Amino acid sequence: MAILDILTLPDKRLKTIAEPVTVFDGELKKLTSDMLETMYDAPGVGLAATQVNVHKQVVVIDVSEEKDQPLCLINPKIISKEGVQTYEEGCLSVPNIYAKVKRAGKVEIEAQDVNGEKFCIEAEELLAVCIQHELDHLKGIVFLDHLSPLKRKMALKKLEKAEE
Ligand code: NI
Repeated sequence: MAILDILTLPDKRLKTIAEPVTVFDGELKKLTSDMLETMYDAPGVGLAATQVNVHKQVVVIDVSEEKDQPLCLINPKIISKEGVQTYEEGCLSVPNIYAKVKRAGKVEIEAQDVNGEKFCIEAEELLAVCIQHELDHLKGIVFLDHLSPLKRKMALKKLEKAEE
């Protein structure tokens, strides 16, 4: 296992659209275990492959208190959404910036595991937020993109200041 480097804004590579995974091999298993290790080390509750500069549809998530319920989503797709919730989000690629984002309250997703087996998950609360946030990364979207232009500008300014 290895800790991977996490891309941070304004790195343009975060805007890359991830390709579907077609080969379920040892390399994919290594990627997911490295991503989990990187996420736990950060620490964070979710990480998309895009954030470690691998442009494949791979996401890892663990929203459990004990950090013992890792979830690997390969080629994840949202198949239904319901309701609305607002949650203060942060992102390992947008250090020290937090902002309230409005998303679906409940989502149902279809994904594959590291062996290519299909499965479905129904999620709500933090897990639903996390899934929507991470799936956005695979499309080159960061949570700041959901904010109003003014709030987004303020967040980016704060980010610039922190980097100085
Ligand atoms: Ni993120």
